[in-house]
Amino acid sequence: MGKVVLAYSGGLDTSVAIRWLQEQYGLEVVCLTVDLGANDRDLSTVRERALQIGARQALIVDAKDVFVRYFVWPALRAGAVYECKYPLATALGRPLIAKLLVDVARQEGATHVAHGCTGKGNDQVRFDVSVGALAPDLTVIAPIREWRMTRDEEIAYAQRHGIPVPATRESPYSTDQNLWGRSIEAGVLEDPDVEPPEDVYAWTVSPERAPDAPAVVEVEFERGIPVRLDGAALDGVALIGRLSELAGQHGVGRIDHVENRLVGIKSREIYEAPAAVVLHEAHRALEAMTLTRHQLRLKELVAQEYADLVYNGLWFSAAHQDLAAYIASVQRFVSGTVRLKLYKGTCRVVGRTSPVSLYRHELATYDRGDMFDSSAAVGFIALWGLPLRTQASAQLLRAGEELRGIMPPEITGES
Ligand code: ARG
Repeated sequence: MGKVVLAYSGGLDTSVAIRWLQEQYGLEVVCLTVDLGANDRDLSTVRERALQIGARQALIVDAKDVFVRYFVWPALRAGAVYECKYPLATALGRPLIAKLLVDVARQEGATHVAHGCTGKGNDQVRFDVSVGALAPDLTVIAPIREWRMTRDEEIAYAQRHGIPVPATRESPYSTDQNLWGRSIEAGVLEDPDVEPPEDVYAWTVSPERAPDAPAVVEVEFERGIPVRLDGAALDGVALIGRLSELAGQHGVGRIDHVENRLVGIKSREIYEAPAAVVLHEAHRALEAMTLTRHQLRLKELVAQEYADLVYNGLWFSAAHQDLAAYIASVQRFVSGTVRLKLYKGTCRVVGRTSPVSLYRHELATYDRGDMFDSSAAVGFIALWGLPLRTQASAQLLRAGEELRGIMPPEITGES
């Protein structure tokens, strides 16, 4: 009998998938539940449910630390925020789950792996492409993409097979979460003109109800990686957990976005990512202080490339390795401390220091102690403006066109 390793969440879809894989494919099912710090269900209950439904084995793997060190921190250092909005929590989790599915498949001698993604989203792409890169010999099955059951048919199937259906009405939303953020879609959110009801949020209070007094928080980075929160050295998982709670209490981290999926659909997505929002803000401020303008320009381009690559499921690619090498290099002096103020849904940088800061008070000051040589500015301006003066005299002034299209017509005399 062949074996399949199923990424099991404990929800209705993947619970039904256990029986369905046995029936349709005649495979023995090994369930794998990866703990990425979602904290939304009791994992020993999840494990028991899998076994009760008929899984041959049910494994729980705690991957929180690896997730932070090898996925979340690299994405933070890279400034990876998809479409300037989405810090990529779900997208970063998928390649790690795919890798662990492959590991368990090897260990168990499985021929197949399976996941609970639908056929319309990005997640199926991320899983299938990642497994294809790591283990081209394994076959990926996506039961939900194949079975085409409606919700009611699925519940009927579950009842017929003695699969426990959650007694409480399941949330009207589709959610995915890990320690870096929550993704919420479907239900009323599918109307992009409807304000998300309060019940979509689980990690953040409404900014309107946030405390009247702001909180101030200090994050210290070493080479672009957060190492201290308010002076306390913390490992990544703890740091993110603590910051997430604090920022959430101040209503920071709610994101409402109409996003371009890889499969061509625009979809309305709600995210909650309090720690990610604060850390990206802080990290950007520190980069502004420790990188030159040339570095910042290229970094911004790379950040976008990096975000797209993560979003589009290309984690296990040589292109990623190339970008990662650049990121490691550009982050080597991004060290220092950033102070932020969290207040009613906003997060503002209010101070920063760095032992390798490029900010020089004696160059910037208008007060006593000014070391900037203003007389050198004259020669600089003469050369900086030289090409423009040349063009103006050779072309623009000569044709009387120096203001055309860039000043009001009543001034330029155009009709
Ligand atoms: N749109 C986001 C992404 O592509 C979130 C996906 C959420 N997944 C889910 N099963 N609800 O990364």
